[in-house]
Amino acid sequence: MAEMLDRIQELAREAEAAVAAAPSVEALEALRTAWLGRSGRLQEVLRALGTLPPAERGPVGRAANDVKEAVTSRLEARLGELRAAAEGALGDARWVDATMPGARRGGGTLHPVTQMRRELEELFLSMGFSILDGPWVEDDRHNFEALNVAKDHPARDAQDTFWLEDGHLLRTHTSPVQVRAMETRKPPIRAVAAGRVFRNEALDASHENTFHQIEGLVVERDVNVGHLVHTLKTLLSAVFGRDVEVRLRPSFFPFTEPSFELDLRCLVCEGKGCPVCKRSGWVELLGCGLVHPNVLRACGVDPATWSGFAFGLGIDRLVMMRHGIEDIRWLMSGDLRFLSQFGAGVSG
Ligand code: PHE
Repeated sequence: MAEMLDRIQELAREAEAAVAAAPSVEALEALRTAWLGRSGRLQEVLRALGTLPPAERGPVGRAANDVKEAVTSRLEARLGELRAAAEGALGDARWVDATMPGARRGGGTLHPVTQMRRELEELFLSMGFSILDGPWVEDDRHNFEALNVAKDHPARDAQDTFWLEDGHLLRTHTSPVQVRAMETRKPPIRAVAAGRVFRNEALDASHENTFHQIEGLVVERDVNVGHLVHTLKTLLSAVFGRDVEVRLRPSFFPFTEPSFELDLRCLVCEGKGCPVCKRSGWVELLGCGLVHPNVLRACGVDPATWSGFAFGLGIDRLVMMRHGIEDIRWLMSGDLRFLSQFGAGVSG
């Protein structure tokens, strides 16, 4: 048996030397047949097993199989080397086949929130709105005071608001842009403003400390709730490309009167209940209402002549609905495995 094992080791050395010296892919393939093929040299050894006493067959068979595996992997490795070298040689020769499909470069893609934001802005532009922008770092007046949020309102609590040391804050909603719009423009006004907002939240599947809203403000003569509802329904069916189910609930915001909350029938679970809708079947999508006269007044607009509606819509929630994302925290995670799934819209 020892003799047989020696013979196998010798074959292994021989095979590995031949593989290492193979000059071309073709030569390697010839070696594969000669050594590993059905009538190859290793197979001969295995065939001879039958002539050994039964007790020796096991160890000898195993040794032959080990060698077969080792030679196979050496051969694959050498094949890889030769192929790489062949490609390098083509590159060196500056040889280009212009009809070959190009190599895909891993280009960036727009964040799904950015895609949704741009889509919403396009829709509002088509409805005659202009697009405004506002700062992330706001002052008390724009974020709270001019919006009729009383000094002792719980929204000003440090638990909800990120305060900066100098008394400024990270805006907790996009509503301060309403104030800026009315301060700088004369009515009639139709404007939207989208962007990041920040809240000092306990995080869970539907709450992030950084998320996105799009704010809408219309100031005209004789605005009523019908105008508001019509605008929002038009918007949501355009976004989802189908009729969606919504419900309006009376609510409270200091800056609107009356105030409503608009919920969307959850599209992730079709209303059956899932983490996104907190098992209720409905997702809070936006707050809205008619602009409170105190707000108009604080911004220098005469409530006797002008009235308005406003809404603030959560963009992240729309994205979650559209793509069936169950946890909002994915959106700001920066995880490329997640983000690369939203490849569309690079040119958007
Ligand atoms: N700013 C409110 C929020 O963030 C939403 C809102 C905007 C409500 C405009 C009414 C009018 O919750």
